[in-house]
Amino acid sequence: MSNQKKGKFIVFDGIDGSGKGTLAKLLVKHLFDSDKKNHVLLTREPYNSKYYAEIRQLLKEGADPTDNAELLTELFVKDRLVHTNLIAHFLSEGVHVVCDRYKYSTFAYQKAQGISLDKLIQMHGDILVPDMTLIVDVSVDEALGRVEKDGNRSHKEVFEQKDFQEKLRQNFLTLPAILPNEKIVIINGMGTIREVFGLVKKETGKIL
Ligand code: TYD
Repeated sequence: MSNQKKGKFIVFDGIDGSGKGTLAKLLVKHLFDSDKKNHVLLTREPYNSKYYAEIRQLLKEGADPTDNAELLTELFVKDRLVHTNLIAHFLSEGVHVVCDRYKYSTFAYQKAQGISLDKLIQMHGDILVPDMTLIVDVSVDEALGRVEKDGNRSHKEVFEQKDFQEKLRQNFLTLPAILPNEKIVIINGMGTIREVFGLVKKETGKIL
């Protein structure tokens, strides 16, 4: 596909239970079905790099949401640097890339863990910037209710506590103003899947 234009890099981010994973899958299907020329990579962070097992272990063993803040920050960023090599390769081949979580998760979660946002932004230097980031916003009660109902979750992660999730939500909501040069759109995730996906199509339609 080397004669193709570069693919678009689209990120979904938000708090646990926001619906971002479902919306990412719907967008991939929509793009794939809408044009035979479209090739689409669906991926997520944390990525399955050599840092992945340690990240999972820390998420599982932490007793308080602020535990292991520095180590997690380092691991998430290193994991992301590996991931962006893969993403950049697909984009250069004309493949669209849809990613569930990206650096905005580090800005929201690790800031809520107590790491300075300036430092987190600096650590990302000139890392690949998405063509569009959709932050799916829902109330914390709604999100925690959805996480409880999800039968596939075998354990509760250390971050799934109401006060911490409220901080995360606010951190996500401030990102468009803090990063005005990036295309970050807040999507109201409180409607039905059909309604919310309608908003996703409307926004992504502007760049696709
Ligand atoms: P996961 O179960 O994959 O989350 P979800 O299904 O909700 O997307 O676990 C990833 C957890 O790691 C999640 O609680 C968010 C957190 N996280 C960070 O704290 N920083 C990061 O940079 C990333 C990518 C994730």
